[in-house]
Amino acid sequence: MSWISEKTSEFVYYTWTRQKGVVPIEIAGGEGVWFWDTAGKRYLDFASQVFNANLGHQHPRVVEAIKRQAESLAVAGPKMAYEAKALLGETLARVTPGDLRKSFFCLGGAEANENAVKMARTVTGRQKIITRYRSYHGATLGALALTGDPRRHPFEPLAPGIVRVHDPYCWRCPFGQKVETCHRECVSSIEEIIELEGPESIAAILLEGISGANGVVVGPDDYWPRIRKLCDKYGILLISDEVFTGLGRTGKWFAVDHWNVVPDMITMAKGLGAGHLPLGAVVTSDAIARYYDENPLVGGLTSYAPPICVAAALEAVRACEDERLPEKVAALEPLLMGRLREMRARYPLIGDVRGRGLLGIIELSVPGTNQPLVPFNASAKDMERLAPLVKTFSERGLYITVRWNYVIVAPPLIITQSDLMKGLDMIEEGIAALAPQEVAL
Ligand SMILES: Cc1ncc(COP(=O)(O)O)c(C=O)c1O
Repeated sequence: MSWISEKTSEFVYYTWTRQKGVVPIEIAGGEGVWFWDTAGKRYLDFASQVFNANLGHQHPRVVEAIKRQAESLAVAGPKMAYEAKALLGETLARVTPGDLRKSFFCLGGAEANENAVKMARTVTGRQKIITRYRSYHGATLGALALTGDPRRHPFEPLAPGIVRVHDPYCWRCPFGQKVETCHRECVSSIEEIIELEGPESIAAILLEGISGANGVVVGPDDYWPRIRKLCDKYGILLISDEVFTGLGRTGKWFAVDHWNVVPDMITMAKGLGAGHLPLGAVVTSDAIARYYDENPLVGGLTSYAPPICVAAALEAVRACEDERLPEKVAALEPLLMGRLREMRARYPLIGDVRGRGLLGIIELSVPGTNQPLVPFNASAKDMERLAPLVKTFSERGLYITVRWNYVIVAPPLIITQSDLMKGLDMIEEGIAALAPQEVAL
């Protein structure tokens, strides 16, 4: 370990992990979908860092926009109007669906979701929020309360008024259904819960467009339209958390666009600053914007739309538009999904593969069953079973997320076919390294 890792380990926390024994990658630079460490080893970034470097590393337009903004106007408080802020608001209104128009800015996904919930509560005068179990909405206490993922467990009890429901997780349907027998219990159960809780107490349903780190649960095609109808029936606002899936990741600007659903609010972050700088946003409907014309917006942040972050985001969204990334991503989906399906046919320990656009998942399962190969919320000890897989990825230089029994594929949206295939080859090598040992079990 060099002094860089030693000092980092001594003075800076690593996230989501026991600190002892962490061996970080000493990142030295990057370009496009590749980055390299201080020893010159190259990595193919199949996680877009933390699913945020959607335009890859050192995107020239974003880097240039940051420099330009830093030189012309680096400081502007929340009450100031300036060019990039006006243009980013207008651009987000253009790329979001339907009548979504006006943006509230913040620095990340957790803040975006918390502010969306504050708005929903104020606008409706109701308190409760419905979210799903297999979800992640951020690590602040409010966002953890919205989250279903076990990362909330150590901090409970959290804020009251959150009601969690089951996911449209068809591979292991929580209602014990098969495709042939399904009656969309994932939706009807939500209606039942709304009635049991009292519809007049529910401000919003908050769902990830397609769930990200909790298993890329896509759901049936009529799921989101049915949820929209439920919300309309009971006067509940619909919030799509597109922090992970927004801005082209799934082959549309936003995941809800796959089903032509217009939510009342979309939250976004991650790809908004393209991983180069942080920025989050809540984009709200015209009706919500009009509500705040007459009523005070009780909310704000010191870092509300800081110019350099906003300039980076504006250039990132423009690059996404100019390079037609949602369309390009959609065109790569058949290659990605085709290859994942081939692997499933070849390796019995791949139970299911799912995905949209450049967001895909391999679910490692006990061969011949839909049971996860390592348990839900697997411990470090449980994960040792996947050591040959993780070792192969690391040796080959594939930077990818392995969480519980999930291998999550999410490369930068600018990836070429050839790099996508290179990464998929490395994934297959990893699975093959695991396969003989697992089949023998
Ligand atoms: C769907 C979703 N929502 C919210 C968040 C939280 O975003 P942040 O880490 O920027 O607060 C994440 C982060 O992983 C996410 O995936």
